[in-house]
Amino acid sequence: RLPRVYVTRRIPPDGIKILQQSGICEIEQWDSDDPVPREELLKKVAGAKGLYCLLTEKIDEEVLRAAGPSLKVVSTMSVGYDHLSLDDLKKRGIRVGYTPDVLTEAVAELTVALLLATSRRLIEAADEAKNGGWGTWKPLWMCGNGLTQSTVGIIGLGRIGEAIAKRLKPFGVKQFLYTDIGPRPEVAARISAEFVSMEELAKQSDFITVCCALTPETQGICNKKLFSKMKNTAVFINTSRGAVVNQEDLYQALSNGQISAAGLDVTVPEPLPLDHPLFKLKNCVILPHIASATVETRNAMAALAANNLLAGLQGEAMPKEVPL
Ligand code: GLV
Ligand code: GLV
Repeated sequence: RLPRVYVTRRIPPDGIKILQQSGICEIEQWDSDDPVPREELLKKVAGAKGLYCLLTEKIDEEVLRAAGPSLKVVSTMSVGYDHLSLDDLKKRGIRVGYTPDVLTEAVAELTVALLLATSRRLIEAADEAKNGGWGTWKPLWMCGNGLTQSTVGIIGLGRIGEAIAKRLKPFGVKQFLYTDIGPRPEVAARISAEFVSMEELAKQSDFITVCCALTPETQGICNKKLFSKMKNTAVFINTSRGAVVNQEDLYQALSNGQISAAGLDVTVPEPLPLDHPLFKLKNCVILPHIASATVETRNAMAALAANNLLAGLQGEAMPKEVPL
């Protein structure tokens, strides 16, 4: 009998095709657009050799215990892997694949779109046009903040941060600043970005964009300390993980005019409850975690996750493996 892999969702066609055509595994799948119920996951993972999952599944000690010693590979169709308990995976000698690079462009593009939508108040303005608020052309109405001659601060200068900077540069950005665990001279040189402290970044930036991974070190780093130092004309954008931001503090900063606006593609929790206070703010644009959502990108992510899984099953080097 072929080893079994469990796929936790309906995934783009390229991914499933690669698994099927490999002929080296038996595929079982939660064939739905909605997440697999936890109970079902715990049941189906038992005895599987491979697990193909998404960022919506928390892969922790409970799942690994349910899986048992057969489980050798976990492949997530995401660049982020904060939903995986790496310590527990490592302890059990389970290898982990993820999907960097293939989504960099799509995420950077969406980040620029969200930044412009937020700073130029697109959603609010379109609502006014539709709902009778237009009235007439008004010199002081719906004014936002432009990118020309601006300073952009990047929190976490990796592949995505660099791709965002490259796309923003042609809009006339004057200066890029960044913070990270330490200086990243190679990337920084390519986009002429200056390494500064979080405090300097907050004080000087007209736009701040968060592109770091969620780790114990980055959890909640965008909090009232940061917001209180930002310009009150500044725009805050997050397309990484919701938990990097203290949402209470962000709500306060947005509602008392400490900062100008925020655009979020990620929140805690996801989905954000409909009665959440952030939804009531006109200066907060919230998207349902769609940064990598282009047809090509999602197919590429699905294919890469499939190839990672197959390589792992065969004991070969994965195209993109998380170093444990
Ligand atoms: C999306 O958030 C991802 O991690 O791929
Ligand atoms: C804007 O439409 C202008 O003509 O200034």
